[in-house]
Amino acid sequence: MVELLPSILSADFARLADEIAAAERGGGTTIHVDVMDGHFVPNITIGPPVVASLRKATKLPLDCHLMIDNPNEFIAAFADAGADWVSVHYEACPHLHRTLQLILHHGMKPGVVVNPATRVDLIIDILPMVHHVLIMSVNPGFGGQDFIPFSLEKIRRLAAIRRELDLTFKIEVDGGVAHDTVAAIVQAGAELLVAGNAVFGAGQPERDARALLDAARQAEIL
Ligand code: DX5
Ligand code: ZN
Repeated sequence: MVELLPSILSADFARLADEIAAAERGGGTTIHVDVMDGHFVPNITIGPPVVASLRKATKLPLDCHLMIDNPNEFIAAFADAGADWVSVHYEACPHLHRTLQLILHHGMKPGVVVNPATRVDLIIDILPMVHHVLIMSVNPGFGGQDFIPFSLEKIRRLAAIRRELDLTFKIEVDGGVAHDTVAAIVQAGAELLVAGNAVFGAGQPERDARALLDAARQAEIL
């Protein structure tokens, strides 16, 4: 069953509670929070204080996507702020197993993220530990970029590995998920669909979340 995870990166940051409520009415089931540090990626966004405020503004799970160097230093702060899921980049974690253990230790659901240029085969050994794998289908840092087509093959490869190993982690996709790409993404095997621009970009998050989710569900039936 596919799910829509609205990414607040493209929302109005001065009206986050209203924006999230609208995206939830449109069918969003988990809120995707993009954390950027200006080092790992060329942009800066938000951190634990905003997550703590979001925690009070919605009952939906908060999926914190850490695009930061040295994520270990911030895991406890995100747990204290009320994060439910925390994902870290393969490319930012020289001791990825330890980082995932730390996330688990703080009672959160761990995820691992791979950039477009990173092969999914590199994370096979730690797949039994993760709740979700996030395939970046754009280079992280900004919303509203075009979906990179070869990401579809990576989703298919990851789905095949999951079958072979008989695992249950979820496959999440982030970047360029929109009306014209969502069907192929779902058919490739992704079930957690992150969308920022396609939900918030036109200022009609309820309507646009619902339309995107409907298109995703149609593709699932095909
Ligand atoms: C990009 C972020 C994404 C971003 C996706 O670095 O990780 O979550 O919000 O934005 P869209 O859906 O606009 O491509
Ligand atoms: Zn993200």
